Amino acid sequence: MKIYFATGNINKVKEAKIILGDEFEVEQIKIEYPEIQGSLEEVAEFGARYVYEKLKKPVIVEDSGFFVKALKGFPGTYSKFVYETIGNKGILKLLEDVDDREAYFKSVIGYCDEFGVKLFIGKVDGKVSIEERGTEGFGYDPIFIPKGYNKTFAELGVEEKSKISHRKKAFEKFKEFLKFKKS
Ligand code: IMP
Repeated sequence: MKIYFATGNINKVKEAKIILGDEFEVEQIKIEYPEIQGSLEEVAEFGARYVYEKLKKPVIVEDSGFFVKALKGFPGTYSKFVYETIGNKGILKLLEDVDDREAYFKSVIGYCDEFGVKLFIGKVDGKVSIEERGTEGFGYDPIFIPKGYNKTFAELGVEEKSKISHRKKAFEKFKEFLKFKKS
């Protein structure tokens, strides 16, 4: 079964392939969609519908964000912009001398076919590290330590990350839905 994944981020495609396994073939399509200002759910729903209307084939998009408790959820829905501007160093700077380092990642997959949109959500709790560590992954991976671990996502690497990540949880739910749909 083929899944069309509309994204410009090759790392997300790599993770989706690891998580979905051999049963499903993931094909990246580079159709851009407007990232409306809103919640991750609103962005994913709008994007999935938009790309489906262009492609006329079942498609997924994924919107994710990094939420830091001591910063009242910032960067959250601004994660992409914040990463591209102040980056990981900027987040660490904002958290200098802050003891509460709790944070989480959230992923929302929007799937659209002729019956409309369905959303699949995953979240992983953890904390922000004191310094950037590790070389694998992308985005905030070098500064996020998942709960129960002492390594960042960038140190754990994509295979380990993909057993516990927000994306793993969202794609597992999507996988269950696909299996149900097939049967
Ligand atoms: P997007 O809008 O879903 O592409 O993601 C927002 C931003 O969050 C991206 O630019 C990444 O910097 C960051 N991000 C999303 N998912 C991850 C992840 O799994 N690890 C690290 N950073 C991520």
